[in-house]
Amino acid sequence: MYRLFDELALRYDLHTPPDHYRHDHAFVLEQAAALGSPCRLLDVGCGTGVLLEKARQAGVLATGIDASPAMIRVAEARVGTGAAAVGRMQDIDDEAAYDLVVSLSWTLNYCSGRAELVDVLRRMRRALRPGGRVLLQVAHAAHVDGRLMEDREPGPTGEPDDVVFLYRFVRLDGEDWPMRAEYVYACKSLNELTHELHLLRMADAHAVATCASEVGFHDVQVYDSWRRDPLQGSPSPFVSAVHGVAAR
Ligand SMILES: C[S@@+](CC[C@H](N)C(=O)[O-])C[C@H]1O[C@@H](n2cnc3c(N)ncnc32)[C@H](O)[C@@H]1O
Repeated sequence: MYRLFDELALRYDLHTPPDHYRHDHAFVLEQAAALGSPCRLLDVGCGTGVLLEKARQAGVLATGIDASPAMIRVAEARVGTGAAAVGRMQDIDDEAAYDLVVSLSWTLNYCSGRAELVDVLRRMRRALRPGGRVLLQVAHAAHVDGRLMEDREPGPTGEPDDVVFLYRFVRLDGEDWPMRAEYVYACKSLNELTHELHLLRMADAHAVATCASEVGFHDVQVYDSWRRDPLQGSPSPFVSAVHGVAAR
């Protein structure tokens, strides 16, 4: 378990404020509105529950799972108990329970490789009703440039630039499109400083799309961003696919 998702779960919204991914979340809510009334949504790797909160406020029947008990505690504080549960994407075993399954911000890339990704996608498809949709935001290593980037955010009591988040994504050689994410989190007022390396796999949207087709998804699309434009330069594209109907 990575520290950013475990002992530092309470700091996640400091370095990655809820507002950061508002366009991605709006994209998900748009899909949800098109799929059901109310739409049953599963957020895989729900983290601190930001999407869950927005979805529930929009009338979506949104629930989430996350492998990290610490992240789930933060999510529960945001959306209440019952809406989020500790669970690994590798263990999803629902059947036809959802209209929409989403997984944002590279959660899927914490799989161990192609075989595991295929199994997770099969489980996601089984969890969907026929005609349901999956929306996956994945890392795309071909579009990372190894540049060191920096965000400065307010601290816990609102003081500007108190939190510094440095990050860099490095493409690695090897099977299953490996990539390394390097993170430095610092909060001056709390006197906290942490550095962590995350190994990501299957960091290729086309490979994820191929795996989705293999397990029976139809209409598999790769989008550069929430704008639904063709993949061109984004390190964080979306793969969207429809359950299809025939069982496999
Ligand atoms: C980068 S965070 C993204 C969180 C959230 N989706 C968001 O957009 O803010 C990745 C999340 O995936 C979770 N995670 C990692 N491996 C997982 C697994 N095997 N199954 C479910 N969740 C997992 C982590 O605990 C973490 O909360």
